[in-house]
Amino acid sequence: MANDILKYLKEKEYVSGEVLAQKLGISRVAVWKQIQKLKDTGYKITSDQNLGYCLVSRSDLLLPQEIQRGLSTKYIGKEVYYFPELKSTNIIAKEKALHRAEGINEGTLIIAERQSAGKGRLGREWFSPAGGIWFSIILYPQLSPSYISRITLMTAVAVVQAIKVCTQIESQIKWPNDVLISEKKVCGILTEMSAELDIINWVVVGIGINANIDIRDFPKDIQKNTTSLKETSGKEISRVKLIRIFLQEFEKYYEKLKKKGFPSILREWKFYSHTLGKKIRVDIGEKIITGEAIDINESGALVLKKEDGELIEIISGTII
Ligand code: BTN
Repeated sequence: MANDILKYLKEKEYVSGEVLAQKLGISRVAVWKQIQKLKDTGYKITSDQNLGYCLVSRSDLLLPQEIQRGLSTKYIGKEVYYFPELKSTNIIAKEKALHRAEGINEGTLIIAERQSAGKGRLGREWFSPAGGIWFSIILYPQLSPSYISRITLMTAVAVVQAIKVCTQIESQIKWPNDVLISEKKVCGILTEMSAELDIINWVVVGIGINANIDIRDFPKDIQKNTTSLKETSGKEISRVKLIRIFLQEFEKYYEKLKKKGFPSILREWKFYSHTLGKKIRVDIGEKIITGEAIDINESGALVLKKEDGELIEIISGTII
């Protein structure tokens, strides 16, 4: 109901309580209650006894109605589950992803203002205070499970593009899926999947963007290597605008991946790469491999030239 009121409220113009009540078929007291609810979720609304209500400014919370306002995607973000706080958007997304038959669709978005147990790669914690953008997208791709790393790489390209379009800030991708600004991490991606031998049941792409967070609020041990968009641009950015642009970019690249395959996206990934051409050390779990990152191949694997000249392909690992 509060959302319906938003449709009729105007900026810079008063709408009377009576008109709102008539349009929505509720009493004026009910209108007043809904207005209070909107105010509680961050909308600024002035009221005047004779003139009615006027919308002064919209909420900057990541509310479904704000994200979906002017969103031009076909299916990504068309359903949004919003939480002021939860443990991890990936946990909720994985639970929901199981319920495709009961109407959970491809592109469903789970988004939160804060996570109390945000998950990073390799079982690490992901610091997720208010001011960031913490979200997960549910996908049901008809692709082979080997595409999972390509979906992650594609997501990183969509993040870099969205940051650029929204804030004009240039960022880069550290293989496989960290987004950096001036060598410091601003976004991480955690992709999880359930698959059988040759089909994917579901994919959950979890994305954490350090948007409006002060660097001194991060845990001491990560402060050196971490940044936020607020820190970089010197001012708060519009999180709603950024997530909306991201969802559009994400759908564009996901469609490209499904229809045209990975090579066209790979070209863009390479353009934004922070890794290629560098001498690096990669932790692949059982050992650490040193060499020069010379390429990313068409399955998304990192091609490393070892010191003895041998070329090896690494599908999953962490650069240290
Ligand atoms: C990384 O280690 O770089 C990946 C971090 C991924 C964090 C995001 S925040 C939204 C989603 N929910 C989680 O618990 N993790 C991902």
